[in-house]
Order: sequence, then structure tokens, then C-alpha cells
Amino acid sequence: MLSVTKNALRPALSRAFGAGKAFKHTLPPLPYAYNALEPYIAEEIMTLHHTKHHQTYVNGLNAAEESYAATDSTAKKIALQSALKFNGGGHINHSLFWKNLAPASENGGKLPSGGSLEKAIVKDFGSVDAFKKKMNTVTAAIQGSGWGWLGYDASSGKLDIVTTANQDPLLSHVPIIGIDIWEHAFYLQYKNVKPDYLSAIWNVINFEEAERRFVEASK
Ligand SMILES: [Fe+2]
Repeated sequence: MLSVTKNALRPALSRAFGAGKAFKHTLPPLPYAYNALEPYIAEEIMTLHHTKHHQTYVNGLNAAEESYAATDSTAKKIALQSALKFNGGGHINHSLFWKNLAPASENGGKLPSGGSLEKAIVKDFGSVDAFKKKMNTVTAAIQGSGWGWLGYDASSGKLDIVTTANQDPLLSHVPIIGIDIWEHAFYLQYKNVKPDYLSAIWNVINFEEAERRFVEASK
């Protein structure tokens, strides 16, 4: 009986996938106003970053997934891999990034004192200030566009600072905090001075979200 039901569903599922309906990704709403991160990240940057750049990744991911579903050619599927990686990574990374930030008036920049994340940072980096300094140094040294990450390595049980190039998502670690170091994230406000952007962003890092991710990852 069950197999009959499953077989009966197959044509409908096939039509849905063929039409790309199962692959529709959408731009998640920003969890605060576009000007809420000022003066550390300007309203113009946030508006363009969210409505233009992230939307472009969403559109590219939908197009790539629809093309992938529409072809039976293995060669064409292989040719689509880079578009899937770039746009899919862009969508994953930015969806994480918006939640990773919070207005300074709503506890942005405040690491919960005595919490498990603070303890782990002190254990693995010596102090919170040493951690921020190291993460800024490593992120600023990325050649070209990419992301700096505080990631949790489940195999070692440690926090690490790692980077990914372009829009590659972080796969080796569980992302706890991500910093977008593409020029579109800072250039309108900070020009070429990456260290100033990296110093400022700590005022709007959502450490409560980072703590939640860390607790979940290290269970
Ligand atoms: Fe970005």
C-alpha cells in the first residue's frame, strides 16, 4: 500500500522539481532597521548589501538549481557546480551574517560575562581582546574577497580562527561568528582602511547569537 502511494506521488514530485518550485530561495528579512548599526556600519552599506548583493546571490542560486534540475546532462551539471557554490555560499554566508550582527543599543558588541563562549574564548586565545586582535589580523590578511570566521572544531573541541575565500561557506568548522571582508561590506564608509572596519564591527557583533551557536555546536 505504501509503495503504491509513493509511486502515485512520483509524477507530481517530478513536476514540482522540474519546474524548480522545490528550489526557491528567498531573501530573509533583516532583523533590524537598515540604519540600526550606525555609526559602525552605515545605512547605505546595509541597504545595498542586503537588497542588492544578497538578493543577487539568492537569484543566482535559484537559477543554478533550476538549471541543474532541468538537465539530464552530466557535463552540464558539472558546469553548474561553481555557480551553485558561489551563489549558494553567498546565500548561506549572508543569511548567517545578518543574525551575527545586532544594534549596539540592543546588546550588540556585548559578550555575555561568565558564559560558556567567553570561557572557551579565554581558554583557546588567552583573553577576549587577544581573540579579537587575532581575528582582525587574520581576516585583514585575506587576499581578495572572503570571510573571517570564529569556528568550532567538533573533533578537537576547540575554537579556531579560519578564513574562506570568495563566498565559500565554512564547512570545516561550525560557524560561530563570521565577518564579511568583501569590499561591498565596508568600502563606502571605510574606503581601503580594512582595520578600521574590523575594529568597528565588534561594536555590533551579536554575541548572544554567537553564544547560542556555540552552545548548540558544543553539546
Ligand atoms: Fe557581503
